[in-house]
Amino acid sequence: MSKILVTGGLGYIGSHTVVALQEAGFKVIIVDNLSNSSVKVLEGIVAITGETPAFENFDLRDKQNTTAFFKRHKDITGVIHFAASKAVGESVENPLLYYENNINTLIYLLQELSKKESSNIIFSSSCTVYGQADVMPITEEAPIKLAESPYGNTKQIGEAILKDTCKANQNFNAIALRYFNPIGAHRSAKIGELPIGVPQNLVPYITQTGAGEREQLSVFGDNYPTTDGTCVRDYIHVVDIANAHVIALQRLLNKKHKSNFEVFNLGTGTGSTVLEVIKSFERVSNQNLNYKIVDRREGDVISAFADTKKANTVLGWKAKSSLDDAMQSAWKWQQTIKSKL
Ligand code: NAD
Ligand code: WQD
Repeated sequence: MSKILVTGGLGYIGSHTVVALQEAGFKVIIVDNLSNSSVKVLEGIVAITGETPAFENFDLRDKQNTTAFFKRHKDITGVIHFAASKAVGESVENPLLYYENNINTLIYLLQELSKKESSNIIFSSSCTVYGQADVMPITEEAPIKLAESPYGNTKQIGEAILKDTCKANQNFNAIALRYFNPIGAHRSAKIGELPIGVPQNLVPYITQTGAGEREQLSVFGDNYPTTDGTCVRDYIHVVDIANAHVIALQRLLNKKHKSNFEVFNLGTGTGSTVLEVIKSFERVSNQNLNYKIVDRREGDVISAFADTKKANTVLGWKAKSSLDDAMQSAWKWQQTIKSKL
């Protein structure tokens, strides 16, 4: 049985991916420093899969510990690297934290992997690498724009590091997955997103407002050149994202990849406005949401949704859930979240 290292495996996307990996028969070992997650997430994973993944709590910025870890686990056949800091605003305030965490952890991992005869890694990239793309939907060929934030820059640099490493070493295989906007939770509501403090992202802000934890949602701008004036994004169910990781990993392990560095968009292919997301929430929760229109948020792109042809045809993966499915799962999770903290 293949043993897979999932860094950041107790985080939002990582935990759903651990479930999908275990359900597909992989043996998982998680490394997470709990900087943005809780050890209780393990209980949710076990409740869903009936299986306890191995877990080591350490910081991947610690090079010595990372080296020692790989010495202890020589049988790791693939790595899915989620561990990173991900708050755009925080990255503007504290860029060095972001460069240190998101770049050093990747370099240390790659240094360890390059000691192996052959290695496979999946990297969490983001649609943020495209900035405001000129053409919708966005294909993988769209030009990478100057990063809007240090966080976005770490994803661009991360991809460049992987590309160069793969070019220099043909025994290295990497896939960068560019997620659009992951939302929702596992249908069991045993794992989900655990935003610390005030959520920066739309969907947790909506569900917390619906649950009465926030008074009102602020909609950032309604005078954009879109159908209803609010920004457009490609919201994708986190379980669809998780399943794509299993397929991408199998592609590498089964040596089905065409090049040793590949990039895929992970989105639904459909753009939704902020007001459409609110309407979806109102439909699935059977209640009106308290919101008001405020000024635009600095740095927001007008529109971003994925061309998913490459992921559909080359990877053989397609998002299955609708926006309402994803909102339904986010709302169910919101209603049980207190007992998870
Ligand atoms: P998350 O914060 O929920 O998960 C990241 C996990 O990594 C956390 O459990 C955290 O404790 C851990 N971690 C962070 N730094 C670490 C370190 N130095 N050593 C060990 N563990 C560490 O984030 P997420 O939403 O699950 O995102 C996962 C990945 O996907 C990140 O790389 C993120 O940049 C990327 N991504 C996320 C989104 C999104 O909207 N959630 C979109 C695009 C890309
Ligand atoms: C979505 C829409 C807001 C909150 C961010 C990162 C990106 C990627 C995904 C990691 C926008 C509007 C939001 C609110 C609102 N993450 N909004 N009121 O900005 O598309 O992307 O997460 O890689 O890098 O930047 O997601 O959820 O913050 O916003 O009106 O309280 O909702 O203006 O149009 P975004 P988001």
